[in-house]
Amino acid sequence: LNYCVPRTRKEIFETLVKGLQRLEYRGYDSAGIAVDGDKNTTTDGVNNNNIVLIKKKGKVKALDEELYKKDCMDLEVELDTHFGMAHTRWATHGEPSALNSHPHRSDKNNEFVVVHNGIITNYKELKKYLNSKGYEFESETDTEVIPKLIKYIYDNREREDLSFSTLVERVIQQLEGAFALMFKSSYFPGEAVATRRGSPLLIGVRSKYELSAEHIPIQYNTAMFKEGIQEKNSHNRPDISNAVNSAEDGKAVEYYFASDASAIIEHTNKVIYLEDDDIAAVVGGKLSLHRLNRQAGEVPVRAIQTLQMKLQEIMKGNFEAFMQKEIFEQPESVFNTMRGRICFDTNKVILGGLKDHLKEIKRCRRLIMIGCGTSFHAAVATRQVLEELTELPVMVELASDFLDRNTPVFRDDVCFYISQSGETADTLMALRYCKDRGALTVGVTNTVGSSISRDTDCGVHINAGPEIGVASTKAYTSQFVALIMFGLMMSEDRISLQTRRLEIINGLRILPELIKKVLSLDKNIKSIADELYEQRSLLVMGRGFNYATCLEGALKIKEITYMHSEGILAGELKHGPLALIDKHMPVIMIIMRDACYTKCQNALQQVTARSGRPIILCCQDDPEVSKNAYKTIELPQTVDCLQGILSVIPLQLLSFHLAVLRGYDVDCPRNLAKSVTVE
Ligand code: G6P
Repeated sequence: LNYCVPRTRKEIFETLVKGLQRLEYRGYDSAGIAVDGDKNTTTDGVNNNNIVLIKKKGKVKALDEELYKKDCMDLEVELDTHFGMAHTRWATHGEPSALNSHPHRSDKNNEFVVVHNGIITNYKELKKYLNSKGYEFESETDTEVIPKLIKYIYDNREREDLSFSTLVERVIQQLEGAFALMFKSSYFPGEAVATRRGSPLLIGVRSKYELSAEHIPIQYNTAMFKEGIQEKNSHNRPDISNAVNSAEDGKAVEYYFASDASAIIEHTNKVIYLEDDDIAAVVGGKLSLHRLNRQAGEVPVRAIQTLQMKLQEIMKGNFEAFMQKEIFEQPESVFNTMRGRICFDTNKVILGGLKDHLKEIKRCRRLIMIGCGTSFHAAVATRQVLEELTELPVMVELASDFLDRNTPVFRDDVCFYISQSGETADTLMALRYCKDRGALTVGVTNTVGSSISRDTDCGVHINAGPEIGVASTKAYTSQFVALIMFGLMMSEDRISLQTRRLEIINGLRILPELIKKVLSLDKNIKSIADELYEQRSLLVMGRGFNYATCLEGALKIKEITYMHSEGILAGELKHGPLALIDKHMPVIMIIMRDACYTKCQNALQQVTARSGRPIILCCQDDPEVSKNAYKTIELPQTVDCLQGILSVIPLQLLSFHLAVLRGYDVDCPRNLAKSVTVE
């Protein structure tokens, strides 16, 4: 909007498509775009009036190609002001198709068009009502009720002169579920309205002038300030819209609305994170924020934050896939998790986001670690060492199951929410559940400004850098390290634990070097993948500190190779999985020199006795294990509780090579999305 310099329509397309490509990891089964058309032109039936909708099944690339087939639009025309929007979809309601993809529209004239991230849970009732009023639906999505509803409100406004943002406000009062929404309308040309509840939304602000404001004030629509609420920071606070727009008759600013910062970082690093029920409107080039009534304790401003993210962090560089790049980044990402937090001279560990709550955590009844997918595995991986270092009971919970069970939670519980994205719906719901019960909540996320990092009482950012590949890799090892650092911080004054602490801290010091050594095994691992890639199944077995590696390795294999894979606790082998073993079944076993070594060797005997041909991940120079192996991958040995960081890497690499050999798109596995913002 309001370009710093006029933009051609081609540049607008390129900006939107590039933004979508950066967000493609969130979903990629179809994509669509809405832009202003040339006045009085019509296209092949899609374009009417002056909003053009172009939608396409498949990845963003397919949409990009489609854009240039529309010869109705002048690509070179220069526009001073423009509002375009685009969306990439991960299907929840309705199959992937052009019709089900966003933007959705109110009617054949595209009077109101909407893009949505999230899920509308009461869409059936709304659809029934709107159907009864004569509104016809063309897709199977939950989203389509939104453009229909805004048109219904507009059509029935009688003599009321409703602004675009008031219309949106009325719409969201009817919606249940989670959403981040962007609206465009031919009745309000050049105006943009956005809002959120439960799904993330941020606004990037780019100006050719220095932004003189640090906050943007909120306008309360019904100005119902309760007595006694202190208006913090309310004096002399400049209004950003005035600050940036007054510079040159409103033509000084571009606003970028997006679900996450990677889509906009190449344009600006100044962002405003919207809160639930905020409504942001750009009218006449000025941004304003609205809310309904002000709640007690609410801060009536939104800060303009400066992001630290760098563009090359979200580029693939020389790697074939983001996942591969992220696997190879682990020496640095793990180091960045520790940077400035561990003092190797004094053996002190300080996590700034937790230090003020340490006393309270030490007094708690138990620690509950909650997450989904890979993040859950990070909790499984560190549970034992956390029990040892904190001397507290530690529960590990899959967020969905935790909620299904209505798990009892108490005021003196401390609940950790582990999430790379900080947006996973199940984990967020579990957070709200525990907050309502008065527990202290701690976020462990990789995404600054994410819902989990903002809604928890305190937390740790794992600082692994943006993770784009859908299959999580570097976030796992950084979550692992962050949780161990928490254990070290908790045990600082326990005399009996000092030797153990020292051993772990020394292990962490050399961890990046050891990771490099593991990464140098890539060629070996590729040759194992060459042998395995046509198999249908792959079992991964281990126990103790390496059980989580089995779960995580099997998850990686499933996610991107579509092979059946199971992580098996070696202690359970004889209680069922042994029935799967024969000379044809590929098995990977993890046997490290730790307290479970002998027990793992027993499992190995049981496998070889059934003609199994195990590929074994073991420590360097272990002839005892190697002699029974079909193949070995030898890893450097480290402290038992850190070994899982090293043992997972060969499985990350293996799954990557298997997926490539099987001809699959590693970064965009079918049916999956990186950030699952629906329950
Ligand atoms: C999705 C992703 C997984 C991820 C899980 C939890 O299922 O595909 O890779 O582990 O969500 O995501 P989070 O962002 O909460 O760690």
